[in-house]
Amino acid sequence: LSRGAVQPDLAGRHVLVSAGGTREYLDPVRFLGNRSSGLQGYALARAAAARGAEVTLVAANVSLPDPAGVKVVRVETTAQLRDAVLAGAPAADAIVMAAAPADFRPTDVSDAKIKKSEDGSAPAITLEQNPDILKEISQHRLREGQVIVGFAAETGDATGSVLELATAKLARKGCDLLVVNDVSGGAVFGSPDNEAVILSAAGVAADVPRGSKASVAHAIWDQVAATLRG
Ligand code: CTP
Ligand code: CA
Repeated sequence: LSRGAVQPDLAGRHVLVSAGGTREYLDPVRFLGNRSSGLQGYALARAAAARGAEVTLVAANVSLPDPAGVKVVRVETTAQLRDAVLAGAPAADAIVMAAAPADFRPTDVSDAKIKKSEDGSAPAITLEQNPDILKEISQHRLREGQVIVGFAAETGDATGSVLELATAKLARKGCDLLVVNDVSGGAVFGSPDNEAVILSAAGVAADVPRGSKASVAHAIWDQVAATLRG
């Protein structure tokens, strides 16, 4: 996708992007994590900066260099991600939650490294649910007119197709746009490419063909910019 010269249609706007995957610690050296690479979130941050926005990037465990001209806030856990997003939200005209926060965290975190026993037994891990950051910021807006974008990687199942499940998720979360990845065909983690459908409450806002994560990022900002112009 060739865009030629990028238009500064986000000039004067503050945007906040979250990227990467959170870690939930069991002890000082072990955690539960996920495979989010942060590539799509970083592409979103770079694209927004190219379009003139002031960008805050909340990065959870991403091993990529800081994008030029972007304020990067590094976090590890979902609780830290939530704190950073809530801190940045009042100043943000748009928030894009590209991060994959862990849905669950261990109920107890051991201060000391958990030792294995000689009898071959293993400890049971009890989990509790993490707060839903996207739902919280969507249902209790910290800035008027703010555009909030969620991401959803879905496979269809017995309860519905990818689009049906995504439409229900958009309504449940209360965000303005939902970027839907159909991952039925296998995982896309770490891939340089992506493809997506962008949903709004009114239905499919854009069908984004397979392309670089940069081109998908620009398609998302196209929708955000249009919604901000509203
Ligand atoms: N999200 C969030 N806080 C969480 C979990 C998810 O803000 N604790 C955000 C993600 O950043 C993403 C969106 O919610 O933008 C959808 O994430 P997803 O995992 O698809 O939603 P869940 O409600 O966790 O549903 P599922 O049971 O399908 O995982
Ligand atoms: Ca989830």
